[in-house]
Amino acid sequence: LTLELLLIPIAYLIGSISFAVVVSKSMRLPDPHSYGSGNPGATNVLRTGNKLAAVLTLIGDALKGYLAVMLARVLLGDESLTSTLSSWLLCGVVIAVFFGHLFPIFHGFKGGKGVATACGILFGINWILGLATLGTWIIVAVFMRYSSLAALAAAVFGPIYFVFLFGFQPMGIALLAVCLLLIWRHRSNIHNLMNGKESRIGSKKKGQS
Ligand code: G3P
Repeated sequence: LTLELLLIPIAYLIGSISFAVVVSKSMRLPDPHSYGSGNPGATNVLRTGNKLAAVLTLIGDALKGYLAVMLARVLLGDESLTSTLSSWLLCGVVIAVFFGHLFPIFHGFKGGKGVATACGILFGINWILGLATLGTWIIVAVFMRYSSLAALAAAVFGPIYFVFLFGFQPMGIALLAVCLLLIWRHRSNIHNLMNGKESRIGSKKKGQS
């Protein structure tokens, strides 16, 4: 078990790799903290107009959530979603990788809002859960054209889908924590949405928030 506890700091370190920063640096784009919302995430990278960079950021940030959960599930064994001890450890891994994205040790603790990483985490737990939550994001994004509103809707429905699929399990609490953190990180977006100042997907204009 002592060795398995190492999964938590490892997940934090994996989460701390900000793909918005890594991709922007390697594609010679400006630092995502310096324009738009200032958020190191795929939505803000898209404001440079470079779609490939945004997609690579999205994939990287989602994959790190997915891989951290999958690594833990493989090492903890099949019962990691049901046996008490392993499931709490898996909860720790989920929170650690998400926390790493929000407060990355490699980038001065200035991380993103966690949407892509949360999506990867959900796919790592269960692909139906991931698909249902991603579907919610897509529906809101297509109809409303707000990335943040889509993320907030997906954050509300994600834990509900989990309970619907698995009942009340420790992981439900971890996912609730992830979703509350995600909503808290979107407080400036919520403010802008309420004031009609939030920028739509694809629009390059957005003040610092
Ligand atoms: O993924 C974050 C998104 O929901 C909002 O990003 O840059 O518009 O604050 P941004």
